[in-house]
Amino acid sequence: MAIRKIAKMGHSVLRKPARAVSDPQSPEIRALVADMVETMQDANGAGLAAPQIHEDVRVVIFHVPAERASEAPDDRPAPLTVLINPTVEPLTAERELGLEGCLSVPGFVGAVPRFTRIRYSGYGLDGQKIEREASGFHARVVQHECDHLDGILYPQRMEDLSLFGYVEEVRRALEQRGDAQTVEEAAD
Ligand code: NI
Repeated sequence: MAIRKIAKMGHSVLRKPARAVSDPQSPEIRALVADMVETMQDANGAGLAAPQIHEDVRVVIFHVPAERASEAPDDRPAPLTVLINPTVEPLTAERELGLEGCLSVPGFVGAVPRFTRIRYSGYGLDGQKIEREASGFHARVVQHECDHLDGILYPQRMEDLSLFGYVEEVRRALEQRGDAQTVEEAAD
């Protein structure tokens, strides 16, 4: 296991679709996921996608810490989850704005519209299919991570770039509005 270097916005590995994994149970994928977990934990992230550590394959990891879950249905805490070749399907047309950060866009946060309720699927390291429905932070982090596999970073999903800024400035602005907890949703 090793902590890997994280690619930053502008690097070509973050701008192209990643390749499907042919064998989720291969030793190479297991080793990759071990490095991803170590790298994500070192960086204190909620999720990580393989292209962020310069690996051009469709693998994401994420977790939903208890403090980020809400009362919404299917927005429960989730243990560390590995998704190989994931798919995401919106279950509603409704989207909501929430602040996101990204380990590949360090120092910044932005308000990003995301579907409030999704169904996602993929394969685990044991080759078993995972299928879940999610809402709230859980749905947001999955959409953020899976976008990485299609070469999309969260600023590309933003519709109002006036809501993009340095994390300390955005936090200060939200605190002045009495809206401090929103920034805690910063993902990844
Ligand atoms: Ni990210």
